[in-house]
Amino acid sequence: MNTKFLWCASLVLVAGVVAVQPLRSTPQDAGKLQAAMEQIDGAVKGIQGALKTPDALDKALPEVWKAQRATLDAKAELPKAVVDMTDEKARRKAEFAYRTQMQDLMRALLDVEAAVLAGDAKKADKALRQADNLKSAGHSQFRPRDGR
Ligand code: HEM
Repeated sequence: MNTKFLWCASLVLVAGVVAVQPLRSTPQDAGKLQAAMEQIDGAVKGIQGALKTPDALDKALPEVWKAQRATLDAKAELPKAVVDMTDEKARRKAEFAYRTQMQDLMRALLDVEAAVLAGDAKKADKALRQADNLKSAGHSQFRPRDGR
């Protein structure tokens, strides 16, 4: 009777842990984040190129979408520097800061898209600069090696 109860209790405990695991907001695959960042980088360069030739402004659009998709991927990951934090409260705070900055990056890229659609290369360039500022801030906070 007692053994049965212990078995049941252990099963319930294991099931509980398995069920709760996906709720932890700590997906971390350093490779995935780096790959997404490299995609953003390539796409941003493509956008910059297209903005230099206003006649070819439409060519910026697929690159803008590429950057947005990669930002979505990056947003679903977390930097290693955050995942490795042992202080739970500090980690939660850093997760929030990271995701908030990723949202800002997405907003900037949506602004780039709106300006491109409106045929306003100057405005698109301004929004892209905002994305670049976010890059500098994000890198110095979450990628402290050289803060590029
Ligand atoms: C236009 C915007 C951005 C571009 C073009 C960009 C580009 C890049 C590139 C090329 C890398 C890989 C370079 C390397 O590790 O040597 C990288 C890594 C990284 N970036 Fe960004 N980034 C941008 C915005 C951001 C933002 C907003 C954040 C944070 C909120 C961020 C956080 C990181 C982190 C944590 C890494 C290291 C990834 C790893 O190796 O695990 N980036 N980024």
